[in-house]
Amino acid sequence: MFEVKDYLENRKGRLYIGGVSAEGLADEFGTPTYVYSEERIRANYDRLLNAFKRHYKDSELYYPIKCNNNLAVLNLVRGLGAGADCSSPAEVYLAKKAGFKRSRILYSGNYLRDDEMQFALKEGLHINLDDLSQIDRLMKHAGKKKPGFLCLRINPGMGAGKFKNLVFAGPDAKFGVIDKHVEAAYRKAKEHGVKRFGIHMMTGSCITEDDYFVGITERLMDLAGPIARKLGISFEFVDIGGGFGIAYQPGEKELDVNYIGKRVVEVFTKKCDQYGLGRPTLKIEPGRYVVGDAGVLLTRVTSLKQAYKKFVGVDAGMNTLLRPALYGAYHQMFVANKLNEARTEKVNVVGPICENSDQLAKDRELPPAEVGDVIAILNGGAYGFGMGSQYNTRPRSAEVLVHAGKAELIRERETFADIDRHVRVPKRLRAGKP
Ligand code: LLP
Repeated sequence: MFEVKDYLENRKGRLYIGGVSAEGLADEFGTPTYVYSEERIRANYDRLLNAFKRHYKDSELYYPIKCNNNLAVLNLVRGLGAGADCSSPAEVYLAKKAGFKRSRILYSGNYLRDDEMQFALKEGLHINLDDLSQIDRLMKHAGKKKPGFLCLRINPGMGAGKFKNLVFAGPDAKFGVIDKHVEAAYRKAKEHGVKRFGIHMMTGSCITEDDYFVGITERLMDLAGPIARKLGISFEFVDIGGGFGIAYQPGEKELDVNYIGKRVVEVFTKKCDQYGLGRPTLKIEPGRYVVGDAGVLLTRVTSLKQAYKKFVGVDAGMNTLLRPALYGAYHQMFVANKLNEARTEKVNVVGPICENSDQLAKDRELPPAEVGDVIAILNGGAYGFGMGSQYNTRPRSAEVLVHAGKAELIRERETFADIDRHVRVPKRLRAGKP
């Protein structure tokens, strides 16, 4: 069984990523290393945005930096025409470095500190607030220079997500202005002199049901429409967020983005007409869909252990890829030099971290792996490197971009010096010269 994306190839039983040997990449750059396919990122971006643009020209894609913040990736999506969705000041710093114009940065922080509000105001970004209570605070910080534009993130009362913790709207969610506050929030903004408005939602992540996106858009429009009428405001854009899922399991259904684009645009325009909203820009904020399946994590087998179960030890752990430990997420795996071999063993693939949750796969069928083999872990492009840590004092991994059959290092592997770069030891505690 070898069921992978087209940029992954099986050449005589060996894995190639964008035309480059996975084993060669592991030799050249070491392991663990995240490898991204530029072509796949481009293809994902075009497929999704065009699915909307085909039916509604004024559709835009804002890329959420949190999903994969490598500057090379950011430059790539900026070059494709994306705006940036930022959730922290440092994400704005990266977005600007990657060439995103301030006018195409949406600052969607939640539970903001005062200095973050001041930062977003000073930078002149489009600000997306998460609660009614934040409006007065923001305006206090703005003083006389009140922003002319404001967006509000709405919690439309329902959400969805692949895992419980990936549901970002509904009663348990910490995000968004709840529906009964929406009118008061826009009224308040208007009273503060805001003239231009946006409306936003982000109701969950990794949603694989096509019709969900249609239903939730309708719900947002049914909240937005009556309020716009009542308050006499209009929306420059309607941002339906990200959440577009990808297939992690073999054989899992892929989203039908053409269907989603067509149907979302249908309900969007119908509701715009019904409520007299004109034709606002339709924004989407996909992270995972753009970069998720374009990334492969390469790791090397370090040891094999037959205990109560068989354990295949690899040099990537929960410090490298947190998703399996945090959500119980499934990531497909291939032994890079054994693609044609039968998956005759059932093993747990585990990392070197001193926690029993450091298990990247449980009871996974794989061909018998040997020490030194390279294992490719798929769908590592989204929330992979970014959620990594230095836990157990392990430097973070390298990142590589493959394009036109060539590999380039886009983030150096961290060194020991990166571990204690910012640490200061009081003089009285320092060891004497040995
Ligand atoms: N917009 C906002 C405001 C967001 O907070 C997010 C993701 C996105 C867009 C992009 O969502 P996507 O299209 O990638 O679903 N760590 C989790 C995912 C958390 C998503 C957080 N917010 C994971 O590893 O699955």
